[in-house]
Amino acid sequence: MNRNSPIGIFDSGVGGTSIWKEIHQLLPNEKTIYLADSKNAPYGLKPVSEIINFSKKNTEKLLEMGAKIIVVACNTATTNAISILRDTYRIPFIGIEPAIKPAALQSKNKAVGILATRGTLTSQLFHKASEFYSKDINIIEVEGYGLVELIEAGKSDSAEMRQLLLHLLKPMLDQNIDYLVLGCSHYPYLIPMLKKILPPNLSVIDSGEAVARQTKAILEQNDLFTLPLNDIPQPEFFSNTSPKVLAELIAAAKNNYKVSFCDF
Ligand code: DGL
Repeated sequence: MNRNSPIGIFDSGVGGTSIWKEIHQLLPNEKTIYLADSKNAPYGLKPVSEIINFSKKNTEKLLEMGAKIIVVACNTATTNAISILRDTYRIPFIGIEPAIKPAALQSKNKAVGILATRGTLTSQLFHKASEFYSKDINIIEVEGYGLVELIEAGKSDSAEMRQLLLHLLKPMLDQNIDYLVLGCSHYPYLIPMLKKILPPNLSVIDSGEAVARQTKAILEQNDLFTLPLNDIPQPEFFSNTSPKVLAELIAAAKNNYKVSFCDF
């Protein structure tokens, strides 16, 4: 591993590309390798022991590919497995968690909705944060049941998705939230649909930019910024199912990067 090695990024599927985009925008000279474990998605309904095993498997594949640091671009894997990853591997890990703090601090209505997977909502890490902010704020947690499956199937903009979101968000809207926290890296792909169905004064926040800033800080602290190269490195993306939806999401970012199948 050296400073010109890639940043490794993994998620249970295509959703973590929303985090990859923020990292690539902030650190365009860094090479990135992205693993979409779509074969095992959704992680959010799996037992903790399986989430840990998938996270280790993905980490080992990225280490084999030479990653210098690893971004766990999945709230479910972060909240259930990152402390074990940090104890097991001698490489810096950056995780992602629902942005409950900024939402709670900025909410004027004192009512914040959190949309996340069951795995995230039931994790100890999330529970602690939620309990802390619940002292002053009405925190309405809703499991995004079925959302990841539709996004993985390329149906983020479908009538089915619209119906499901209207149903899931109703308890939050009934309690007059003014902040909606997207606590799953797949959900930023729902923002165009959310804009159509949510009241305009409701703010939607996710953690993508914060993760990119943290990635930059960790590279700096470990003296791991890549040395300037003549050619800007091309990001690489791997899926362990058909890479069609992954390729579509990357193409929508107006890039023509390499997206391949890989068995991991
Ligand atoms: N994208 C993931 C997250 O941030 C996990 C979704 C899932 O596989 O359930 O939680």
